[in-house]
Amino acid sequence: MDLEARASILRAGIAAPSADNSQPWRFAWSGDDLDIHIDADRSGSVSDTRHVLSDLAAGACMENMIIHARSLGFDADVATFPHQDDPQWVAHIHWHPALVPARSEPLATAIEQRHTDRRFPWRGPIDANTRERLAAQARQIPGQRLYWPTSPYERKLALRIIRTAETLRFKSPKLHAELFSSVRFSTGWRNTCEEGLAPATLAVEPPMRPIFQALRHPAVMRAFNHLGTATLLGWRSAYLPIRLSPGLCVCVMPSDERQDVLACGRALQRVWLEATVAGLSVQPYAAPGVLSLGFVPVEPAFLQTCSQLRVDLDKLCGPGHGLVFLRLGYARSAPQHRSGRRAPASFDTAP
Ligand SMILES: Cc1cc2nc3c(=O)[nH]c(=O)nc-3n(C[C@H](O)[C@H](O)[C@H](O)COP(=O)(O)O)c2cc1C
Repeated sequence: MDLEARASILRAGIAAPSADNSQPWRFAWSGDDLDIHIDADRSGSVSDTRHVLSDLAAGACMENMIIHARSLGFDADVATFPHQDDPQWVAHIHWHPALVPARSEPLATAIEQRHTDRRFPWRGPIDANTRERLAAQARQIPGQRLYWPTSPYERKLALRIIRTAETLRFKSPKLHAELFSSVRFSTGWRNTCEEGLAPATLAVEPPMRPIFQALRHPAVMRAFNHLGTATLLGWRSAYLPIRLSPGLCVCVMPSDERQDVLACGRALQRVWLEATVAGLSVQPYAAPGVLSLGFVPVEPAFLQTCSQLRVDLDKLCGPGHGLVFLRLGYARSAPQHRSGRRAPASFDTAP
């Protein structure tokens, strides 16, 4: 594998999505072998307790690399969590020339195009054939599946689950602090940034921007919460966009073992890339699934809400754990702003 092939595999991995655009990956090459680690400085706290979000991002990153490498004519031998004593060491990948010659991988072309779109409303419908194409991508990863809530009862239940979790992100002081700490207000509303969430990517309407910005202060959020603001934000950030979009599905994993979370990240990425090929816009909602697992140390007052999320998610898409919802639809144009990435050299594992 030449240097250019290695560099392009890394670029494909770095193009993967990560919660709050945290990019929690570290890479180390040794010959044609690559180690993927979770970056201890960018993982492990609040919603990422037990590394659920980082494992999802690592799975997505790995899948991008595998798909891209295949288009270059390389296959991967993957050992996941190769060292029991090092929980940050997610995968060891040995690349070798594929037995079949390099071929064009339809999903590879979507790696750089894929992005998060938080705007709405979107057009539809999403036909059964497209839904099945997306579901088939999830099934490519053993044990993983995609579930489409379709009946009015299921859609209503899914909406309630997502709205409840999104509301909690503004009600819980810990989750509120985490959410706003990832937004880079210093970049302004017109620019993007190489790490974290640029305000321009959040689809906040111009008149609402000063209020949204003020809500980053815990005291302001607390005061506004007396007026029901968290509930309003739950409707604005989840209920309305989902009601006004033609598609909603959820990635379901068989267990909450880290291996399965990583595999869920791989499945999520395949589904997202296929959606991109199909011209669909995507916004993920990870809070319901992550909070329902019971690892996130929310304040005691909110524990019951998290348990209820688990019960409702089981009812919706059990057996297994619904982990990431995806809102989908056809947008008229691409969003003006996309999240940036750090320079590739910054992902090197420190010696
Ligand atoms: C595990 C995971 C969870 C995410 N959760 C959310 C979410 O709850 N809400 C949201 O709007 N975006 C969510 N995202 C999207 C990220 O914010 C996005 O991928 C990141 O900002 C990089 O932007 P990009 O996808 O446009 O490259 C999530 C992404 C991942 C991988």
